[in-house]
Amino acid sequence: MPSADTSAPAHAPDPAPEAATGPASDAAPIIALAGIEKSFGSLDVLKGVDLEAGRGDVVAMIGSSGSGKSTLLRCVNLLEVPERGEITIAGEAITFSNKGPARVPSSAGQVNRIRADLSMVFQQFNLWAHLSILENVMLPQRRVLKRDRAQARQRAIETLDRVGIADKADAYPSQLSGGQQQRAAIARALAMDPTALLFDEPTSALDPELEGEVLRVIKSLAEEDRTMLLVTHDMRFARDVADKVVFLHQGRIEEEGTPAEIFDSPKSDRLQQFLSASDHR
Ligand SMILES: Nc1ncnc2c1ncn2[C@@H]1O[C@H](COP(=O)(O)OP(=O)(O)OP(=O)(O)O)[C@@H](O)[C@H]1O
Ligand SMILES: [Mg+2]
Repeated sequence: MPSADTSAPAHAPDPAPEAATGPASDAAPIIALAGIEKSFGSLDVLKGVDLEAGRGDVVAMIGSSGSGKSTLLRCVNLLEVPERGEITIAGEAITFSNKGPARVPSSAGQVNRIRADLSMVFQQFNLWAHLSILENVMLPQRRVLKRDRAQARQRAIETLDRVGIADKADAYPSQLSGGQQQRAAIARALAMDPTALLFDEPTSALDPELEGEVLRVIKSLAEEDRTMLLVTHDMRFARDVADKVVFLHQGRIEEEGTPAEIFDSPKSDRLQQFLSASDHR
């Protein structure tokens, strides 16, 4: 029986444009780094990095080997703890305290929550060799999100289908090609329903003919308006998928901008040199 509502004219007043219909934190960046510094012994790797990724932004990080890209990505989900600087994820600031000379996150609970919310895909796929692909995708959902078997299985099947390898659910990692293994790792990350995805050179362990299938999956995720921070050495790919490109040089952001700004009119000499050395790729 239809309610009177369905035929009633809209009676709600027009909301004022920009009226606060959602929480203010909707506008907060998903990833915000300010003044990040990280050293290993006497080696200063990150020397004060500021970086922001808004909701739905794809930020590509480029830079030469050793410039600190992986270290910065690892700081975002607290696999490394920066000595100085602030990390704010979806409006929530990570709290740190001092333990002797070391700085540590104050709350293990907060670290676990943030890590669960930022799924990372590594260069080496890091699948568990003794588990089937389906079980690989189910396990972190069960352990971290405490989903029951049926829920975890359902989400695993969906995400394996999403990356095009649902037919490999019962296979073991060693029975898959590198590109398929990386797609399984992406499915595992997606199944956590993260707020943002972090990728560290996701195709650099792959033969060139297998790169394409993984890049296509990542590109399709970018088109879904997911927030992504992506380290890549593939300049064409960065240009293709990124909203913003960040060039890291010796632990500092030397230049950042749109793909067109970075690739078509680089300003700094260092970026120009870096791009001319990578142009042939
Ligand atoms: N755990 C660690 N202990 C000591 N030094 C480290 C550690 N991790 C990284 N480094 C050093 O920090 C510097 C930056 O490393 P990082 O892995 O962040 O570079 P990168 O930009 O990701 O390089 P690549 O493009 O080769 O992956 C390098 O000099 C590296 O040797
Ligand atoms: Mg690296």
